[in-house]
Amino acid sequence: MTESTPFPDGFLWGGATAANQIEGAFDEGGKGLSIQDVLPRGILEPRTPAPTSDNLKQTAIDFYHRYADDIALFAEMGFTVFRFSIAWSRIFPNGDDEHPNEDGLAFYDRVLDELERHGIEPLVTISHYETPLAIADRFDGWISRKVIGLFERYVRVLFSRYGHRVRYWLTFNEINSVLHAPFMSGGINTPVAELSKTQLYQAIHHELVASALATKIGHETNPDIRVGCMVLGVPVYPLTPDPADVLAALETDHANLMFSDVHVRGRYPGYAQRYFRDHGIELEVTAADRELLAEHTVDFVSFSYYMSVCETADPAKRIAREGNLMGGVANPHLAESAWGWQIDPGGLRVILNQFWDRWNKPLFIVENGLGAHDDLVDGPDGPTVVDDYRIAYLNDHLVQVGEAIRDGVDVLGYCTWGPIDLVSASTAQMSKRYGFIHVDRSDDGTGTLTRTRKKSFHWYADVIASNGATLEARSDGCGVRSASDEPRSPW
Ligand code: BG6
Repeated sequence: MTESTPFPDGFLWGGATAANQIEGAFDEGGKGLSIQDVLPRGILEPRTPAPTSDNLKQTAIDFYHRYADDIALFAEMGFTVFRFSIAWSRIFPNGDDEHPNEDGLAFYDRVLDELERHGIEPLVTISHYETPLAIADRFDGWISRKVIGLFERYVRVLFSRYGHRVRYWLTFNEINSVLHAPFMSGGINTPVAELSKTQLYQAIHHELVASALATKIGHETNPDIRVGCMVLGVPVYPLTPDPADVLAALETDHANLMFSDVHVRGRYPGYAQRYFRDHGIELEVTAADRELLAEHTVDFVSFSYYMSVCETADPAKRIAREGNLMGGVANPHLAESAWGWQIDPGGLRVILNQFWDRWNKPLFIVENGLGAHDDLVDGPDGPTVVDDYRIAYLNDHLVQVGEAIRDGVDVLGYCTWGPIDLVSASTAQMSKRYGFIHVDRSDDGTGTLTRTRKKSFHWYADVIASNGATLEARSDGCGVRSASDEPRSPW
């Protein structure tokens, strides 16, 4: 850290993606089907019985064939980390195959070669909403304990193949999202209306045990490996100071925090045990499960951050807001994106402090970004996108990361979501764009897939090159005040 920037030397700067949202090549190289192949409309509509050709993810942005050029563009921006996921169904096409698919493994070797060539640290998500479809269809996803064994087989292959060249690993993307999207997040085929709480929490328990097992195998493979959990990070504010609203916010918070509490502390917290008792949830938890959870806790906590939500105990005030899976009650003080996601840079500082105070584990922001409509225009140096709105959004969030670092929070790094335009997870659209790099593809699947640098591409390159010194604390950027104009001090 210098006076001009709070970001420490070695802070990791980069971007994050998921296999099903970028790779395409859904049936190439021996890949099997994943649950994403039957979700052509994201989470808005139920799964289809079989793959349909209107699914943009079948081609996505063709990273499978264009990875070298795309990684070169990331390197041009100065990335020091790139988060990507491994498609489980590329490695085990049917989920329970006896041997892994060599073509699938070789693809990720090539991706890692390219990252190494550019000195970019890989950050690998083991499971990002892309469970092999066969596991959903044959076992009802994570409801079945058998899936722990199938996951273990997959993880052992990944660590033995890549464990000496990948230091940072994440187990399940946004593991707490299974509460809101059981099929996408947990491969659970049973329709939500028929899913009992016991089934849902049994599936969650199996994922938590599988995550601990992955941490164990990672550490045994290479003591330098760092394994993190990954949660949907959402600060929950009471809608009013009514104590009933404050308690409602606490309960929503608990529902989310339980996942990282187990990952970090190695046991179910008291409030979770009470919830299970109060709702008649009886889980099968073996002595071996308890031991795994207790002895193989994570090295760091990673999370996505897009928004905060409000909570209220008053049903009349529950005006639902669309959101990143969690929905939530609208906050009257915040603006929102074109997709109704409320924008709250200060919430990122809040959650960084909350997580640090709670766990004292290094934190990694592995997703943050603005999904927006972009227009390609002619600039002085050729086509571009003048995405000042994205620059403002990212600037203001990063300023808050800096504030949290000044607060003493240990932050390992920051990845924007979708450094290159990709297919949206919730809506399966191309037109919901996050990237610094525009990809010529429309929602109807037409387009040349040409890559074009946006204005934000050059902005992010400057942020990285200066280690955050070029960020601007803007007056309307939320909650950044100098000591002299501090309106009040609680100290
Ligand atoms: C996160 C997911 O929930 O949000 C990503 O981990 C997803 O997969 C991202 O893409 C943004 O959401 P969306 O729906 O705009 O793509």
